[in-house]
Amino acid sequence: MSAKFDLQSMPFVCIGHRGASGYEPENTLSSFERAIAMGCRWIELDVYQVEGELIVIHDSTLDRTTNGQGRVASQTLAYLRSLDAGNGQQIPTLTEVISAVDHRAGINIELKGKHTAAPVVALLHQLVKAGWDLAEFLISSFNHVELAEVGPLEPRLRTGAIFRRQDVEDCITKSVILGASCMGLSLRAVEPDLVERIHAAGLKIYAYTVNKSADINKMIAHGVDGVFTNFPDRVFERLPEN
Ligand code: G3P
Ligand code: CA
Repeated sequence: MSAKFDLQSMPFVCIGHRGASGYEPENTLSSFERAIAMGCRWIELDVYQVEGELIVIHDSTLDRTTNGQGRVASQTLAYLRSLDAGNGQQIPTLTEVISAVDHRAGINIELKGKHTAAPVVALLHQLVKAGWDLAEFLISSFNHVELAEVGPLEPRLRTGAIFRRQDVEDCITKSVILGASCMGLSLRAVEPDLVERIHAAGLKIYAYTVNKSADINKMIAHGVDGVFTNFPDRVFERLPEN
């Protein structure tokens, strides 16, 4: 495994949330490119499956981030690919993003849509045959039923359980049962004693979505292992050695 992607040994991980989405349209190729240019060794994105293709978009509806309308899962792939996701860019497929990133950063794939675990693992298995390393990927989800499908299909893939602020109770037990190596927590749920207990359970903790410099400082002081941020440059200003 390349040390570049090794989440276990990295002292602090600045994860470009939907790319550098404070600067470029979220979940687009330009956003991921910007995050990498800023120095991110990991980026994060959200996936849905439509007509067997994994596409990269956050919301379950198109209205906020594209010039289309309606539910993502109800559309044809052709319609989705005809839309403008910002600055004239298409909604990318996961394959396009992985190809564009081209080993320059690890990719945290968040399973947002239903029935995404199996096709994501199948795609990664194809990519392994083409020279990718499973360590370049982290699979995460708020949907723990979907996430639980990953391990039996590919036990070598790292997974992360994500929790909303109100669901943080039992997050350690649930993550351990899921076989996750890390968890994602809202920055509002992160407290130093919780971080200590998460670490004592052998898990890493990444906080989302940490955009303000004051919150970046707070999360570092609380001992988290990394942050999801729309503004990676603000993290690197604070931790230039990362
Ligand atoms: O995984 C961290 C973060 O991406 C979770 O929230 O809504 O941005 O997908 P959201
Ligand atoms: Ca996400």
